[in-house]
Amino acid sequence: MSDLIKKVTEATAKLEQETPASPEALENFRIQYLGSKGLVKAFMEEMRNVPNEQKREFGQAVNALKQQAEARFQEIKAALEANAEQASARQLDLTAPGEPMPLGSRHPISITMNRIIEIFSRIGFVVADGPEIEHDWYNFTAMNTPEDHPARDMQDTFYVVDAPGMLLRTHTSNVQARVMTTRKPPIRIIAPGRVYRNETISARSHAQFHQVEGLFIDKEVSFADMKQTLFYFAQEMFGAPKIRLRPSFFPFTEPSAEMDVWLGTDTEENYRLTKGTGWLEILGCGMVDPQVLENCGIDSREYSGYAFGMGIERQALRLYNIPDIRLLFENDVRMLRQFSAAI
Ligand code: PHE
Repeated sequence: MSDLIKKVTEATAKLEQETPASPEALENFRIQYLGSKGLVKAFMEEMRNVPNEQKREFGQAVNALKQQAEARFQEIKAALEANAEQASARQLDLTAPGEPMPLGSRHPISITMNRIIEIFSRIGFVVADGPEIEHDWYNFTAMNTPEDHPARDMQDTFYVVDAPGMLLRTHTSNVQARVMTTRKPPIRIIAPGRVYRNETISARSHAQFHQVEGLFIDKEVSFADMKQTLFYFAQEMFGAPKIRLRPSFFPFTEPSAEMDVWLGTDTEENYRLTKGTGWLEILGCGMVDPQVLENCGIDSREYSGYAFGMGIERQALRLYNIPDIRLLFENDVRMLRQFSAAI
């Protein structure tokens, strides 16, 4: 046997000893045997130097080397792939605890609103609900604010272009009108919800905000009943020792008043909040205008009532020391999750 053939059979025998243990080593193996500058190629090029009578034997030996190198390559490749699969299967630990679901928290507006609801429900008020996209009649006309009434300017809002007469409610008083037209007195409700006004958005006001309104209708309801109820609320919500009612105007109440609660000026915060007066303005209220009762089909000679309405945002800002109203509507969880403990 010529030296060349001997070299080929030696290479073939050596090949069987090789066990590349990584994808990189396997690639080196492939290049070494089967690459364009590899052994098989080099032996092929020797063919022309082999004497004719040995060409056949030499060719068969090189072919065997090539086939074995390919077989070995495939065999090791499959083994490496199987190993890798097993390794990743080992990394998947089915007994490991799952990804924790982030826990939400209540929005400061909801917390404040729930507190107000809770205080009034203790004295028999029940929650009533109504639509935010409302018919003009429930929002304005029924509430004694007919078209062209100047009081509409105080509550400019957003109108639905494609639906004449429809608007975003400016107060939750629409719920008053809806309840009065569908239920018989006595009526004792509070109406929490979102309302809208066409206002410039700033640190102190927003084009959307929240209110809680209250309505009480029965026989012989007096201004004194209203005052005592609101005083109870001021004590429960603010710990206020006294309240003050100032004359005001609303188209749907007569007489009307604004209520201030006494916070005092002892702390720097209260001084700032009350602008040095000690009084914080909290809500509007009054005796339901007989015209409103009539508009809603309630006999104003038989029944009387009072109503009140307050914004939630300012109370929430005060309760949680939040400096800017816009923070309440940006939905930034870094801000919102701070209130989870306060539920
Ligand atoms: N609806 C009034 C407002 O939004 C508040 C209010 C309600 C006043 C009920 C009096 C009685 O400004």
